[in-house]
Amino acid sequence: MNKLENIVIRAATIRDLKAIWGIEELSYSAPWPKETFFVDITFNADARYCVALVERKIAGFIGGWFKEDQLHIVNVATHPSFRRQGVAVRLVQFMMELASDLKMQSAFLEVRRSNTAAQRLYEDLGFSVTGIKPMYYPDNLEDGLTMTKVLERAHSGD
Ligand SMILES: CC(C)(COP(=O)(O)OP(=O)(O)OC[C@H]1O[C@@H](n2cnc3c(N)ncnc32)[C@H](O)[C@@H]1OP(=O)(O)O)[C@@H](O)C(=O)NCCC(=O)NCCS
Repeated sequence: MNKLENIVIRAATIRDLKAIWGIEELSYSAPWPKETFFVDITFNADARYCVALVERKIAGFIGGWFKEDQLHIVNVATHPSFRRQGVAVRLVQFMMELASDLKMQSAFLEVRRSNTAAQRLYEDLGFSVTGIKPMYYPDNLEDGLTMTKVLERAHSGD
């Protein structure tokens, strides 16, 4: 499918909660409760969420925790009607650029062993498998793979 050229990424606000959670529900067998997003977006000082807009419609979102010198990507999902058009790539790239600007050294995430689509996305972006978390996902006791990427510095010389 053709890649979209008119994707706009912006910081999420609590007003985006309904759309974010709608995508979450369509995307996961064990979606996070809406309250988890509410708490993360509202109260977690380490968390940043972004949404991808296509013609002002929310097509996807990403959440990351910025702790010490690492970006932990905790969630990324694209609405089913916008998949394979480059939305998730743009979201992950945006988050990594933000992390580089904040002088984070690396980015990592967990992904289900069976989620080869997401693994392919992260591999395309330079992540590689650096660990296995046995039975990480409580709903079906599936293993999680940890994938990590060392980030490029945004500005040379500092
Ligand atoms: C995984 C997910 C976020 C990808 O979103 P997306 O916007 O469709 O991804 P992109 O269009 O940016 O795809 C980028 C690359 O990822 C890989 N990819 C994405 N979906 C894929 C699929 N279904 N099968 C194989 N590779 C896939 C491809 O390499 C793709 O590049 P290509 O289309 O040029 O071949 C989306 O399928 C989704 O929301 N899934 C459910 C939630 C989820 O699994 N999130 C990740 C949790 S770790």
